[in-house]
Amino acid sequence: MTNPGRKPVIAGNWKMHKTKQEAKQLASAVVNAVKGQSDLPQIVLCPTFTGLETVLAETAGSPVEVGAQNMDWREQGAFTGEISPPMLVDLGVKYVIIGHSERRQFFGETNQSVNQKLQAAIKHHLIPIVCVGETLDERENNLTDAVIARQIAAALIDLTAEQIKGILIAYEPVWAIGTGKVCEATEANRVAKLIRKTVANLHNMPDLADSIPILYGGSVKPSNIEEQLEQSDLDGALVGGASLNAEEFLALITATQKKLRLAPTKS
Ligand code: 13P
Repeated sequence: MTNPGRKPVIAGNWKMHKTKQEAKQLASAVVNAVKGQSDLPQIVLCPTFTGLETVLAETAGSPVEVGAQNMDWREQGAFTGEISPPMLVDLGVKYVIIGHSERRQFFGETNQSVNQKLQAAIKHHLIPIVCVGETLDERENNLTDAVIARQIAAALIDLTAEQIKGILIAYEPVWAIGTGKVCEATEANRVAKLIRKTVANLHNMPDLADSIPILYGGSVKPSNIEEQLEQSDLDGALVGGASLNAEEFLALITATQKKLRLAPTKS
């Protein structure tokens, strides 16, 4: 968190959790706690599709934004079970997570579909949170850097520098997700630097790469967020388990606020 142009982000990926009533309670606890507060990070709640309208209603007029966890890249058609970008925009959703490792692992997402979704999100003015990360096997075989560089380059194919400017990237090592094994902050920072270098090389624009917020995801908890926030190239967190509990999620926001008070951003 050293670039003053990058606003930190604390995003909660609720995955397949929370009924409508539970979603309402959690969103309202977050909204009430941050009301009137200064030095907040950008807060984004990503409930299930069925929770979106409830969470949007609960967060309306507050600094808390709402994201979807996935979408199709097509606008409409005979695609049973899918949700399109215009449908999300119509609801008032601002962000969308793209290429989460659980989508890649369990639902057949590929680098190519990630690229198609990313292009569709940008076209419809949704802010994409693009996820990349290596598996344990890849890490143990020293493939981390190659995998991350390939995922980033493939995700960004055919995107102009202008289009890349608005995206967020989440580095989520697969082996750290839901396992309690957090990636060492200095190692996550090293990978974040590699992500910036890969983005910079695509358009030969280091400034562009420097402007993109990069979040860390994988077993983020109040007990380990501070170390992540200390890192030069990390700008917050994409949080799974700890985002399901108001107290824990709010502790992550408070930690980020403290950090921001020490080193304010421009925005
Ligand atoms: P956990 O925080 O539960 O490890 O999940 C991380 C994640 O996948 C966020 O998208």
